[in-house]
Amino acid sequence: MADEYILEVKNLKQHFPIRSGWFQRVTGHIRAVDGVSFAVKRNEVLGLVGESGCGKTTVGRTILRLYAPTAGEVWYRNAAGERIDVAHLSSKQIKPLRREMRMIFQDPFSSLNPRRTVKELIGEPLVIHNIAKGKAMEERVADLMAEVGLDPNYMERYPHEFSGGQRQRIGIARTLALSPRLIVADEPVSALDVSVQAQVLNLLQGLKEQLGLTLIFIAHDLSVVEHISDRIAVMYVGKIVEMTGAERLLRHPLHPYTEALVSAVPPADPDIKTQRIILQGDVPSPANPPSGCVFHPRCRYAQDVCKQQEPQLVEVEPDHFASCHFAAELNLVGIGG
Ligand SMILES: Nc1ncnc2c1ncn2[C@@H]1O[C@H](COP(=O)(O)OP(=O)(O)O)[C@@H](O)[C@H]1O
Ligand code: SF4
Ligand SMILES: [Mg+2]
Repeated sequence: MADEYILEVKNLKQHFPIRSGWFQRVTGHIRAVDGVSFAVKRNEVLGLVGESGCGKTTVGRTILRLYAPTAGEVWYRNAAGERIDVAHLSSKQIKPLRREMRMIFQDPFSSLNPRRTVKELIGEPLVIHNIAKGKAMEERVADLMAEVGLDPNYMERYPHEFSGGQRQRIGIARTLALSPRLIVADEPVSALDVSVQAQVLNLLQGLKEQLGLTLIFIAHDLSVVEHISDRIAVMYVGKIVEMTGAERLLRHPLHPYTEALVSAVPPADPDIKTQRIILQGDVPSPANPPSGCVFHPRCRYAQDVCKQQEPQLVEVEPDHFASCHFAAELNLVGIGG
């Protein structure tokens, strides 16, 4: 079935212990991810956005079981169609899934070993998983390089001989080497110059269409995920506060936090004047979040109830989820006014 879910995340939590004192006793918890639920269909791109520190990377790493979750379920449908709760597998059981679920990292500078050639870097997963070696591996590496827009003649070169954008292409080729079924791309363009960002985004967009990738695309900036995403989930302090189709989210946000993020997206037509909403203050600490709605200290629509009662993520309109007491009443401004 084309529209079946490849991933279903249910009430996922990742609480990191805070230790202090001589005995390193646990004195609190950083609730980096605090009850996140969403699902991803095959060949779909889900954008995951929110300011730095809201828990995006932790969601990605926990789904791929680089961290064991504190609580929750992560159901993955493998190539054979079986549903597997990745959250509760042993590290031995998780190993075969590492081929199918992979990550593209933010920083193409530190994620590539500087002492390996591009051939070794892209070919390594093929060798580790016994898929190809020698000549066959070299051919596959050449194909992958061409696929991501790199000249295969450069496969004997080292990462430092490439620009930032090219290095991220090497990282993408390395991720694609095993033909993964699910990719978590964690801010894959955030470390790149603005001019190069568009090129790498275009590459990912092309690969999405060509290879039918299923992607969770993480960014702190809505304008980065706007075009590539089918649906977008907005995170704030460890929780999803809004989730719906990408275009709908930008045109018709239902959560005041999303409205602020949307107001920062440059309009396609430079003649259109937009009113940027500047959020006051910082993202609160997930170790000690504000009472009620965690967004209330920064929300321009906050009322007394917001300080006391935590809003739940509910389906305000068909397939449009938001967690705000006033989601149905506020007439928030999206792109296009
Ligand atoms: N391994 C860890 N141990 C303790 N705290 C962590 C760890 N990883 C992330 N955090 C904390 O969890 C919160 C969410 O971090 P992160 O998932 O990296 O956010 P984002 O990717 O959205 O910037 C932050 O407060 C961060 O300091
Ligand atoms: S619940 Fe209140 S504070 Fe929270 S986003 Fe809605 S209006 Fe703002
Ligand atoms: Mg991050």
